[in-house]
Amino acid sequence: MLRFSVAAAAALLIGLASAPLALAQGTTCNSTVHCPRSAPCCSEYGFCGTGQFCLGGCQPFNSYETTSCKPNPVCRSSTTDFNDLSRVLLNATQYNGNASKWDWVLEKGALVADPSGNGQRLTLTEHGGTLLSSTRYIHYGQIDFTMQASKWAGVVTAAITMSDVKDEIDLEWASTPTNQVQSNYFFLGVVNYTDNKGGTHNFSGNTFTDMNTYTVGGATAASADDQLNWQEDQLQWAVNGKIIRTVTKASTLSLDGSQYKYPSTPSRIQISIWPAGLPTSAKGTIEWAGGLIDWNEPDYVANGYFWNTVKSVSISCADEGIETDSTILPDTVGYSYTGNDTSNTPMVAQTNHSTVLGSGAPGALAASISMIGVTAAAAAIIPALTWSLW
Ligand SMILES: *[C@@H]1O[C@H](CO)[C@@H](O)[C@H](O)[C@H]1NC(C)=O
Ligand SMILES: *[C@@H]1O[C@H](CO)[C@@H](O)[C@H](O)[C@H]1NC(C)=O
Ligand SMILES: *[C@@H]1O[C@H](CO)[C@@H](O)[C@H](O)[C@H]1NC(C)=O
Ligand SMILES: *[C@@H]1O[C@H](CO)[C@@H](O)[C@H](O)[C@H]1NC(C)=O
Ligand SMILES: *[C@@H]1O[C@H](CO)[C@@H](O)[C@H](O)[C@H]1NC(C)=O
Ligand SMILES: *[C@@H]1O[C@H](CO)[C@@H](O)[C@H](O)[C@H]1NC(C)=O
Ligand SMILES: *[C@@H]1O[C@H](CO)[C@@H](O)[C@H](O)[C@H]1NC(C)=O
Repeated sequence: MLRFSVAAAAALLIGLASAPLALAQGTTCNSTVHCPRSAPCCSEYGFCGTGQFCLGGCQPFNSYETTSCKPNPVCRSSTTDFNDLSRVLLNATQYNGNASKWDWVLEKGALVADPSGNGQRLTLTEHGGTLLSSTRYIHYGQIDFTMQASKWAGVVTAAITMSDVKDEIDLEWASTPTNQVQSNYFFLGVVNYTDNKGGTHNFSGNTFTDMNTYTVGGATAASADDQLNWQEDQLQWAVNGKIIRTVTKASTLSLDGSQYKYPSTPSRIQISIWPAGLPTSAKGTIEWAGGLIDWNEPDYVANGYFWNTVKSVSISCADEGIETDSTILPDTVGYSYTGNDTSNTPMVAQTNHSTVLGSGAPGALAASISMIGVTAAAAAIIPALTWSLW
């Protein structure tokens, strides 16, 4: 119920944007209607195109060919201190797939330096929210988000992983009491309203005033063996090193025993603040978010925005780049989809084909940068993310 209608939002927001309509009006794509050869890449938002359409979020199975999308830049263990924005690209239209140069892209919205020096505030105004996306993809491992969530009715903070086939692992704060965080996960973007996988977790601490560390993948490492806990067989969430939830892959087996509905594909890391409490939102969405946003709220009036604060993000990869072969350039290693296995679960391999636009196959068809209108499609819409909670 809460999952956002991307198609409707696209139409609405493109209409509002002043960008040229040529590409924005380009064909749409989905699991039954794939992209044509001339515009082979199916973007995260379901539009066919070239250039940036072939980068982060490009949907391999809805594109002209599975390999039309550029490979996903492979995981590198790292820590970003958000006081330092030197590896954060603030103008997403300049992103060309070079994850050696940028760790994060500001897909939408605006950052404001935290007044206490604790990194950056992601802001939300009447014009929309903010979405920060990693350039690299994690394929199992652990992510530690050190952050403060938002606390206002209708305003949602999310820290998630999202793959190009819509496997998703979520941490969310949806106007919950300030001692709670919500968890959820999705397999291939399938939402089953009668079988919600969401969890709500109390902990001792304040989500708005404390700088807590929220982990997807597992608890803080006690040993190297314990560390990498978004694994092939289990997934965990933790707060300040304490595990709050474990989901085993075994527990996700479908009723007919044919498929594990378990997130298993390389995913970008995304942090966002978004307006769920708008009159245009579905009723269930508004309720989940704690009501409509009050634009006269004193914090909003005083600051000119609502916010959350991200101090740092640490990534520990279970699956870093293959570099055993000296002919492989480390900067070009990516994950690429190779099809489905017999249970219709996507299979992924590492490739040395460049992740960068304009350099080499695959995505040769998509190599020329042609992105007029991409901001209308890509930057004006908050992705489907985590917009469901039951
Ligand atoms: C895919 O898109 C086509 C054309 O826009 C539409 O008719 C069809 O219903 C869509 N299919 C799905 C599964 O969304
Ligand atoms: C973002 O980059 C594009 C392409 O280089 C440029 O045309 C545009 O003016 C930039 N936007 C801002 C706000 O700097
Ligand atoms: C990517 O960026 C790195 C670091 O700035 C640079 O050395 C490299 O040449 C770039 N690669 C491509 C293919 O543009
Ligand atoms: C969780 O915290 C809320 C208040 O924020 C409280 O009402 C509820 O009883 C707590 N639940 C548990 C299981 O402790
Ligand atoms: C949704 O979940 C319910 C309860 O587990 C199950 O009976 C139903 O088949 C599921 N629906 C789909 C479409 O998988
Ligand atoms: C990719 O790997 C193959 C086989 O090792 C090698 O021949 C080729 O030169 C490599 N290409 C790049 C761009 O690294
Ligand atoms: C793989 O299976 C999924 C369903 O699990 C389906 O949507 C997708 O189209 C399949 N892809 C290919 C290439 O067969």
